[in-house]
Amino acid sequence: MHIKTISVCGLGKLGACIAATFAARGFEVLGVDIDPEKVRKINAGLPPVDEPRLDETIKTGHSRLRATCDARETVCTDVTFFIPPSPSLPDGSFSNEFLLKAMQPVAKAMKDAGKKGHLFVCSSTTTPGAVDSVLIPMLERELGGVCGRDFSMCYNPEFIALGNVVNGLLEPDLVLIGESDPAGGAALEQLYKKYNRNSPSIARMSIVSAELTKISVNSYITMKISFTNQLRLIAARHPQADIHTILDAIGSDSRIGKKYLRAGLSYGGPCFPRDNRLLAYTARQAGLEAPLAEASDRVNQRTNEDLVEKVRGMIKKDDVVAVLGVTYKPDTYITEEAAGLFLAQQLKRQGYRVLVHDFAANPSNAPALHEFECVSNLAELKKRSEVKLAVICCPWPQYQGVVLGANTQIFTPWQF
Ligand SMILES: NC(=O)c1ccc[n+]([C@@H]2O[C@H](COP(=O)([O-])OP(=O)(O)OC[C@H]3O[C@@H](n4cnc5c(N)ncnc54)[C@H](O)[C@@H]3O)[C@@H](O)[C@H]2O)c1
Repeated sequence: MHIKTISVCGLGKLGACIAATFAARGFEVLGVDIDPEKVRKINAGLPPVDEPRLDETIKTGHSRLRATCDARETVCTDVTFFIPPSPSLPDGSFSNEFLLKAMQPVAKAMKDAGKKGHLFVCSSTTTPGAVDSVLIPMLERELGGVCGRDFSMCYNPEFIALGNVVNGLLEPDLVLIGESDPAGGAALEQLYKKYNRNSPSIARMSIVSAELTKISVNSYITMKISFTNQLRLIAARHPQADIHTILDAIGSDSRIGKKYLRAGLSYGGPCFPRDNRLLAYTARQAGLEAPLAEASDRVNQRTNEDLVEKVRGMIKKDDVVAVLGVTYKPDTYITEEAAGLFLAQQLKRQGYRVLVHDFAANPSNAPALHEFECVSNLAELKKRSEVKLAVICCPWPQYQGVVLGANTQIFTPWQF
């Protein structure tokens, strides 16, 4: 199978970038979303979400990129990528609801058109086992066919960081392909060989292996971050210990490496915490425990609590505190499970007046900020002489060397 035309269902933070980069790399692309505003923006050549470099990427591929709300139009394409939300449920598993709703009309359209051989690609993160036990059986029912014979299914999650999605897609370390049959996997591998600007490792395996691989990568990184934070808490009890020189020395061991071995705050965002909890859920489902994954989560919570205690130790009852940087990392407006948001919320619950500043997040794109007094620029914050302490909670480079009013002490819990 030789893929020339691509459809992408779900034009959100990830899907819009997938659609735009495929078009920019020369493929004919049809984007599908239930949100008419996202469809309108793509057709007008505008980015439907805020993400660096998405605007120019859409412009580069504009003549090959079109969007629609009608999922049946996917029948004219060779492959459909599905990238709707897969939210976490209270037990730690991920919901299949959005994927089922996105795939159903596509499968039905294939049946109505009598089309065989379509390649379905699930890019949303799934609970291990969900593609084989939930998504493929639904497709077989809707299509009236057999997976591997009448259509193929691949599980192909992306390893990207918000704020760097376009480059992350085009130049990944790894392309992960879980395949229902060798023909489907081979078609996707050939597609990536044309699409990627680098020569990443391409790992092909069974679908459930790929589901486990995806969450294991993120769980391993959370373990490394929590190891660092655990060591930081221990070193802080020894006045002569310097966490930065310790981590530098540890990271020089090539078996360990320096990545994520920097004293910082907790991990957050839409992937790390929930992928790690999903691994623990997957272990429980198999009658096992995942003590490493659970410990990473506990250390992460302890890291957040430690920050709140440290800040409370620096202020008095009626002091005003400013939290600088409430996103989980620079170059994104996402505040989900961010250390700065946690600190601001805890201080507010404990009766402190809290001002918040961020370079991207604001109450309109991050509703969790509605409860705070948001200061839109640093010059204005500088004039707020009532602020006793400003805590930098996200390493936006613009905070480096920041100077505020004479009455305001600045606390940076890590080295820039
Ligand atoms: N954001 C990340 O950093 C990231 C990283 C890796 C993996 N993921 C995974 O990617 C998936 C999507 O994440 P996102 O951040 O892009 O989500 P998002 O909420 O930004 O976008 C999802 C899009 O899907 C659309 N949609 C919902 N139902 C649909 C349907 N039936 N048909 C067509 N479109 C539909 C929504 O309107 C929205 O535009 C999730 O499973 C997530 O776990 C996200």
